[in-house]
Amino acid sequence: MKNQSVIEEVRAMEILDSRGNPTVRVHVRIQGGQQVSASVPSGASTGQYEAVEMRDGDPRRYHGLGVLKAVQNINEVIAPRLIGRNAEKQKEIDCFLCELDGTSNKSFLGANAILGVSMAVAKAGASAEKLPLYEWLGGRKAVRLPMPMMNILNGGKHTHGGLTFQEFMIVPVGAPSFREALRYGAEIFHSLKILLEERGCVSSVGDEGGFVPSIKGPEEACELILKAAERAGYMPGRDICLALDPAATSFLQNGLYMIPELEEKGKTKEELEEFYLQMIQKYPIVSLEDGFAETDWDGFREQTKQMGDHLQIVGDDLFVTNSRLIKQGIREKSANAVLIKLNQIGTVSETIKAVNLCRKAGWNYVISHRSGETEDSFLADFAVAMKGGQIKTGSLCRGERTAKYNRLLEIEEELGDRAVFTNPFQSDMRIPFFD
Ligand code: PGA
Ligand code: ZN
Repeated sequence: MKNQSVIEEVRAMEILDSRGNPTVRVHVRIQGGQQVSASVPSGASTGQYEAVEMRDGDPRRYHGLGVLKAVQNINEVIAPRLIGRNAEKQKEIDCFLCELDGTSNKSFLGANAILGVSMAVAKAGASAEKLPLYEWLGGRKAVRLPMPMMNILNGGKHTHGGLTFQEFMIVPVGAPSFREALRYGAEIFHSLKILLEERGCVSSVGDEGGFVPSIKGPEEACELILKAAERAGYMPGRDICLALDPAATSFLQNGLYMIPELEEKGKTKEELEEFYLQMIQKYPIVSLEDGFAETDWDGFREQTKQMGDHLQIVGDDLFVTNSRLIKQGIREKSANAVLIKLNQIGTVSETIKAVNLCRKAGWNYVISHRSGETEDSFLADFAVAMKGGQIKTGSLCRGERTAKYNRLLEIEEELGDRAVFTNPFQSDMRIPFFD
């Protein structure tokens, strides 16, 4: 083992995330004095089978949301056992952390404790090798910048009083580079703001930095976004497409999907599927995530059968980045893509394992942030390292979102001529219903 890859210190602290809630930051120092840190994100519309985020539950601190126990688990249980280990042995360390925890959902030490350490170890490994993180995790072939799905209109659990569907994203499929994709996105974001102001329905932004206007429903949302794109000089379907994340688990009640802005009585899964089909025929939608609830495997399967040849159907809450559930999905043809979130499963190595399953099955995957984020840009490097060509990291404002975009700009510049940027929705997945 090289001297400079020996872990000398692991230290955790409680910091704040973008919602003002506590989360975990981990510092790792390797021999020679190099120090790195990593911070853990946190979701709001979480899946039932996600690894467990440990919260103190002490109502006297942060309304019970403190993470001092997780911090203590790192400082007292994990840290002493990692001193002297090789930071370059990511898999070995992640495996060790899982064994130390001993549960299937990381509830003993806390997935937030374990992931913080795992991410910091990855950064320490990169630092020891003097490589950028994306190259350390992805090798020399990690040169593909991801197509961003930018969430410019927020609803669901990321707002108060917003639309029922959680995310309306723009996908700049016609952009020639990441830098240009980001510019398309930011220009459309600002056009949308002006459009909403003109209609008197602009409001603040939601958790992921998208607007939360008072409008009639998902169709009006798509129309407004496409109008904003045109105003900014982009052609819907050619330069810019749409991606939706209804996050349907959050509006399934007693077997019916409740979308009050559409109608009072709620939709059956068949009616909801029909509604999506109509939307896909009307608007240039390339990706639909969690169109059905995490318990509605039938809904997913039926939709994949109907629309899967032409539409990216992404499971987020359905799979929770869990290899066992992804395998089941592949076997049952429940979707054709997976949303990948590090903290749903809890270590870097297990997340990579989930990505590898997707690759092997020929499925797409989207590397994703959480609605509660930090200024850590780990995700940007991770997306490049995983080479899947898609990232979801919010809107074009709020520092915790732009931190990832700005890091991707740096990576693109650093790669120079080696950088690759291609539309992941080319070929048969390209907006076949829309003309
Ligand atoms: P979350 O939302 O981070 O609140 O779970 C993101 C998503 O559903 O994709
Ligand atoms: Zn989602």
